[in-house]
Amino acid sequence: MEAVRLYSSRGAGIRDCSLIQDGNLRGERILSKLSIVGLGPLRGEVCVGGAKNAALKMLVACLLTDDECIIHNVPRIKDVEVMLEVLRFLGCDADFCGAHSVRVRAEGDLGFKAPDVLVRKMRASIQVMGPLLARLGKVQVAYPGGCAIGERPIDIHLAGFAALGADIGEKEGYILAEAGKLVGCEFYLDFPSVGATENLIMAGVLAQGQTVLHNVAKEPEIVDLQDFLNKMGAKVMGAGTDRITIQGVERLSGTEHWVIPDRIEAGTFMLAGAITKGDVYVRHANVHHLEALQAKLLQSGVALSSTPDGIWVRAGRAMLQPLNLRTMPYPGFPTDLQPQMMAFLCTVAGTSMIIEGVYAHRMKHAAELRRMGASIWVEGRSAIIQGGNPLTGASVQASDLRAGAALILAGLAACGTTEVYGLEHIDRGYEHLESKFQELGACITRLP
Ligand code: EPZ
Repeated sequence: MEAVRLYSSRGAGIRDCSLIQDGNLRGERILSKLSIVGLGPLRGEVCVGGAKNAALKMLVACLLTDDECIIHNVPRIKDVEVMLEVLRFLGCDADFCGAHSVRVRAEGDLGFKAPDVLVRKMRASIQVMGPLLARLGKVQVAYPGGCAIGERPIDIHLAGFAALGADIGEKEGYILAEAGKLVGCEFYLDFPSVGATENLIMAGVLAQGQTVLHNVAKEPEIVDLQDFLNKMGAKVMGAGTDRITIQGVERLSGTEHWVIPDRIEAGTFMLAGAITKGDVYVRHANVHHLEALQAKLLQSGVALSSTPDGIWVRAGRAMLQPLNLRTMPYPGFPTDLQPQMMAFLCTVAGTSMIIEGVYAHRMKHAAELRRMGASIWVEGRSAIIQGGNPLTGASVQASDLRAGAALILAGLAACGTTEVYGLEHIDRGYEHLESKFQELGACITRLP
């Protein structure tokens, strides 16, 4: 299949978009699977990479300067590849310059239209809106599609841009935002949206005057973005609290930065140790970013101990207890670990309950876990898990990134062989996932 040629949004030149073929991301059509044989406890050490949900936003933050930026500890995952494609489409030089280092230079006249085929594939592409509005005064993106876990609207993003003085137009599935010069304001987010918080910070850093954002998201990835922007010369304060203040500046400069460890990847490996009753050391896990998960695992009877550079998980000794939990914005229990926690609770005798407090439809993995013998009753955002029945291997389908991770965990604990399809979801957010599990003694292979 020939690579589709995308015309740069400036019309000048033709860019081969090597990731796109016949309207899909390359490789999406190839049906590959992970075959997992449940062999019992995982043992050993695994290293966590850089945070996907921090790196993606730093990549777009490079649009705020025409200097060169270098970002280290960037995971080699499909979402990063797609984001690099978006930046190249806009006219940036953007690529890996080392195993996990990326160089971006957004100089010259940039395009203002994000390619809709990529925006629809990856919601995070809408994060270009803040930087392009700040730098060019104009941005056009396709409405991001919904996805398996919910509608994923962007009304808070758009309301914030309007508060900063942008005119927002919507036509034929596109959004066009324009502003002569963004002017600082006070804005209250209706919900502590991670993406909206990040988009509005990036819009505010070059705005005229001061912007105060209230009821913001407090995730560690936002603190990391603040650190990155301030290294570029921005004046952002308060990330990690309910209120962020941004003092607009004239311009930003290039910088170099190391991305924080991925707390969701770390939590996934911690739950892999727990579900297999193993003994696993998760290197680079930041204990301060995983307090909600640690509290729940300790409550269930899993033994944890932390070192300056990671967390030990030991789950083979105690009789584990069922749990009740609700996912919440940070520092609450992270929604991105809810599917993996559900898989774990399927193996804990007793009745557990999970309420999904962030997304409307993040329970699709329950049906796949039932195919493996789990006893789960789902009603709306609530799931009741009758844990303790042994899981048995089955052929299952990942509906999104974290559901895929949950099915892998269930396969590691199941009797027999599990085949997990939908690797295009898993490869979006985990780098070399099967080889990392193999290092812990898992029998897991990728089959075409
Ligand atoms: C980020 O998505 C993460 N993605 C998600 O991780 C994560 O689940 C989510 O934050 C919550 O922690 C990235 O950072 C790339 P939100 P984001 O805006 O920014 C509603 C993963 O697996 N909302 O905080 O899109 C929305 O509908 C992914 O790594 C509005 O109503 O999340 C949802 O119910 C999955 N209006 C809730 O807020 C808006 O304008 C959370 O969304 C924006 C959001």
